Amino acid sequence: MRAFAPFTREILKIDTHAHFFPTIGKEEAESFMFAKPPWLNINGDDSAMMMDGDTEYRLVQSPLWDPVDRLKEMDDNEIDVQIISPTPLLFSYTSDPKNVARWSARINDFGAASCEANPQRLYSLCQVPLQDIDQARVEVSRSMAAGHVGVHLGTHVNGRNFDDPEMIRFLHYCATEGIPVLIHPWDMMAPERMPKYMLQWLVGMPAETHLSILSLILSGAFERLPTDLKVCFAHGGGSFAMLLGRLDNAWHRHELVRQDCPRPPSEYVERFSVDSAVFDDKTLRFLLDVMGDTRVMMGSDYPFPLGEIHPGEMIKNSELIDDATKQTVLCDNAANFFGITND
Ligand code: CO
Repeated sequence: MRAFAPFTREILKIDTHAHFFPTIGKEEAESFMFAKPPWLNINGDDSAMMMDGDTEYRLVQSPLWDPVDRLKEMDDNEIDVQIISPTPLLFSYTSDPKNVARWSARINDFGAASCEANPQRLYSLCQVPLQDIDQARVEVSRSMAAGHVGVHLGTHVNGRNFDDPEMIRFLHYCATEGIPVLIHPWDMMAPERMPKYMLQWLVGMPAETHLSILSLILSGAFERLPTDLKVCFAHGGGSFAMLLGRLDNAWHRHELVRQDCPRPPSEYVERFSVDSAVFDDKTLRFLLDVMGDTRVMMGSDYPFPLGEIHPGEMIKNSELIDDATKQTVLCDNAANFFGITND
């Protein structure tokens, strides 16, 4: 177990939702033999274009791939620790799992190597070929042995939600091996209806995450999974908290909703965590009331377009949250979840 650096700030800030992208160029990406691989087109001026095959995906800056620049920006933002995870564009769940197993290993090795720039401040999550659970298990265990502190998964695999027996088998493996899981929206539903205004971020992502949580609750998956499974959903759990009353109401009134789920949905809130990326003080207060103080941890979505510009500032400056809860959300919950310590 690695320990934090001995920081002197009053409350340490751990950002659990921060992405990286490896320095993989076009030629190397194509050597993994699947269609439209993502890659990074570095411009040489500290910026780069993230590429999705031949399509320009997003203009990005060097902290995304350079851990030294990342640490400088963490200093500027007063972020003590980041848990870095692969950019979801890299998941590649639609391609041949054998190739994606090699691809994931390459990305995960880059993530682990990035943390060596400062092992007390940078911790990494791995990705896996989730379309093939046997290979996913091999890669997650290899990565954990190499120093990763958890696994980063998309909200579905080619339309299969988390109530799919194979997905549950993977979560079961993570529980028995003590591997924390962070679930992130990707490949949003109904993109043809959300071509403009970032609607895939504003509607698709929260809906994806909500669907992912409900897949685990209403299928009874949480009844079958060990209670010590550590699972966290990004973006405050998407639409979930606001719709929990609607869900409980439906469960009480309709056999169709409760047929596989023996307890009211709100009782499963204690089985998972969410990050704090909701961007509004009152919403965060509400999220803490729904989830409980120990199940919300700071996550900013650094360094992407809808990430918090000054990660952790909203929590730190909140007038609706007491100091003890700030400590819990900014630091303690993440330290417990990912098994890192400042002792
Ligand atoms: Co993100």
